[in-house]
Amino acid sequence: MNHLLLYCRPGFEKECAAEVRELCEQQGIYGYCKLEENSGYALFVSHQPDGASLAVETLQFHDLIFVRQWIACLPLLESINTEDRIGSLMPHVSGLPQCNELWVEPADTTDGREMQRFCNSFGSAFSQVLRKQGVLQRKAANRMHIFALSGSSFYIGYVPVANSAPWPMGIMRLKFPNQAPSRSTLKLEEAWHWFIPEQQWHHYISSGKRAVDLGAAPGGWTWQLVNQNMFVTAIDNGPMAESLMQTGQVKHLTEDAFTYQPHKPCDWMVCDIVDKPTRVIKLMTRWLVEGWCRETIFNLKLPMKQRYPEVKHCLGYLQQEMDSAGIHYRIAAKHLYHDREEITVHVRRSDHYGQ
Ligand SMILES: C[S@@+](CC[C@H](N)C(=O)[O-])C[C@H]1O[C@@H](n2cnc3c(N)ncnc32)[C@H](O)[C@@H]1O
Repeated sequence: MNHLLLYCRPGFEKECAAEVRELCEQQGIYGYCKLEENSGYALFVSHQPDGASLAVETLQFHDLIFVRQWIACLPLLESINTEDRIGSLMPHVSGLPQCNELWVEPADTTDGREMQRFCNSFGSAFSQVLRKQGVLQRKAANRMHIFALSGSSFYIGYVPVANSAPWPMGIMRLKFPNQAPSRSTLKLEEAWHWFIPEQQWHHYISSGKRAVDLGAAPGGWTWQLVNQNMFVTAIDNGPMAESLMQTGQVKHLTEDAFTYQPHKPCDWMVCDIVDKPTRVIKLMTRWLVEGWCRETIFNLKLPMKQRYPEVKHCLGYLQQEMDSAGIHYRIAAKHLYHDREEITVHVRRSDHYGQ
């Protein structure tokens, strides 16, 4: 297959396309991108007949920042007979590798959301038929996807389950914890789920760890840290939620995060300050290079224009400084579902753990 369909937050199609095109080129997969702004998806069309299949098998999905989900697919199937969609789509399924299940999804747009009910019912009807005919095999390594643009226009394709997002539409849906003081709380929770595998939580996000929250008020992120039984130093001139202060696990300092220095190194530093990305990345780099924290999750506000180049510039700066200091680390960045005009970055100094 040579079409690679990329799901993203509406408005980020260009970033999504630029990123994938660049990574594909690094793998020797050449092609061009097609996109419509605010459509919630972009398409990379490879010049090689198997370029998209090669991409989903050789690139690492986890390395992608702006892509929520991706599928190697056939060109758009249009004017599908609405009286017999299953019969009309069936012949196209035979070209796909063995799949374990089928997800039918719309784009994450207003129009798309109106199609959600149709996608659910069509998806379960088609899955039943595919299962009965033995086309879907529970142990297969791929998942079949149908991306519905309307009731008669579909992209049909597949992706390796282990190299894709495990949530429909690539969206991790989380329940807002009622006790948390702000909706921002979901950003840190989603970031933890995205960056740290569940089976490692007990090691990295565990009870008794010490954390610093830069730009903490009113305390949505601090709430997550406290909820994991950590002790938190919250830096912000603004007030912290009283309920958090009453836990006895939070020390609130009304200081400037850009000049504050911890007395001793901490396990976690998190930062949700809305400021110039170049200013924030310098602060984050300083914390890591000085060894003030072992691990960090922070937001980088995106500029109006040149968003992808700015992200690359900021992450490149951090990597260069860490490399020059001879520090071993792992870094990952993602435009999370709960992010809007920002991305979330995770960095861990691995030398602290001897990894
Ligand atoms: C987006 S809010 C943080 C929300 C918080 N993470 C939550 O979940 O409730 C950004 C915060 O950064 C704080 N802030 C901005 N510049 C700061 C600075 N230089 N030092 C400390 N705090 C700062 C603001 O006062 C504001 O409370």
